[in-house]
Amino acid sequence: MAIIFGVILSSCQEETIQHSIHDDLGQLPNGFPEIIYPEENEFSLERWALGKKLFFDTSLSIDNSVSCGSCHQQELAFGDHVDFSIGANGAFGTRNAPSLANVAYHPYYTREGGLSSLEMQVLVPIQEQNEFNHNIVDIAAELQMDSEYQRLSIAAYDRELDAFVIARALANFERTLISGNSSYDKYRMNPQAQDFSAKAKKGMELFFSERLNCNSCHTGFNFTNYEFENNGLYDEYADTGRHRLTNNPNDIGKFKIPSLRNIEVTGPYMHDGSLASLSEVIDHYSSGGHDHINRSEKINPFSLTANEKEDLILFLKSLTDHEFLNNPLFFE
Ligand code: HEC
Ligand code: HEC
Repeated sequence: MAIIFGVILSSCQEETIQHSIHDDLGQLPNGFPEIIYPEENEFSLERWALGKKLFFDTSLSIDNSVSCGSCHQQELAFGDHVDFSIGANGAFGTRNAPSLANVAYHPYYTREGGLSSLEMQVLVPIQEQNEFNHNIVDIAAELQMDSEYQRLSIAAYDRELDAFVIARALANFERTLISGNSSYDKYRMNPQAQDFSAKAKKGMELFFSERLNCNSCHTGFNFTNYEFENNGLYDEYADTGRHRLTNNPNDIGKFKIPSLRNIEVTGPYMHDGSLASLSEVIDHYSSGGHDHINRSEKINPFSLTANEKEDLILFLKSLTDHEFLNNPLFFE
């Protein structure tokens, strides 16, 4: 009798835990719109758990050396701290790994915007020679031999683990990487908030000022309007950005405007990680950047005092969401 009781109790506990995970994942920060899941990939805890397991599984790479989580690290807002991350067989990438915080809201993926869904994006790192250098069909065949994966796959999608399941489960997990509880957000909810300093407030005013004009591009709840812009980084671009996709010369040097959430931990900056610090980023913008023919008209030189520069950096650092970076739900 005692044993039966014990079993009932623990399954109730498990249900309670599942409920609270579900609630925590479903909770959106103030001002964040509803997340739209594709019809064939609605959120479920089983799908999320499978996606999370895949996200941290190095056997997705050809030499079992890297997982998605190697280049997209939680404490770095699911970005990386090097200019180019190392993929399978020690190969270097050619772009800086972006943060995956709030990717659920992006209208398209990669820096030139060539992919329209997270499900489709999954195939890129899997096949890219300098990422996993692998093949999703072979990965599925390997993982099918693992009984735990098979069990999770049936529970999540009611079918054997295949390419369909891998892409959808990873996307299901990625859509829950939501970040919107920074000290700036807390200040917005309650202007009396203690950890938003007077200097950060001055920096915020600069950021939103006409003089600096940062929010003409880095705007909205995720600090981006997702447009493609040339911010004057170079005279000549080795990586031509959106032009790679469209072949239109007007697109040379245009990249998807990145979110600035958690920017403190996602350096080095820009598509190629060429600016090491926020101080360098601000120097870049205050100089007006290089005079490229496609440079946006919104980029204009400005000057800042040393104090103002400090304030602007403090504001950018107030966008760090420590709860997100340390949320145990996302621990490997
Ligand atoms: C070797 C490092 C590396 C690995 C491993 C890796 N990524 Fe990435 N990821 C990158 C880089 C670099 C980019 C930027 C690519 C671009 O813009 O062309 C990127 C871009 C992305 C994007 C698009 C983000 C945006 O802002 O558009 C998503 C989503 C993503 N990765 C998810 C994943 C998933 C899921 C996995 C595992 C299946 C994975 N990545 C594995 C380095 C990596
Ligand atoms: C014309 C639109 C535009 C304006 C105005 C603008 N930015 Fe950007 N910003 C971009 C684009 C595009 C990128 C990405 C460029 C790349 O990937 O090479 C970027 C990148 C950044 C990055 C690096 C993000 C990362 O993850 O690597 C920071 C930080 C940044 N901008 C801050 C600012 C600040 C501060 C201002 C105001 C002084 C500002 N931006 C004004 C378009 C703009």
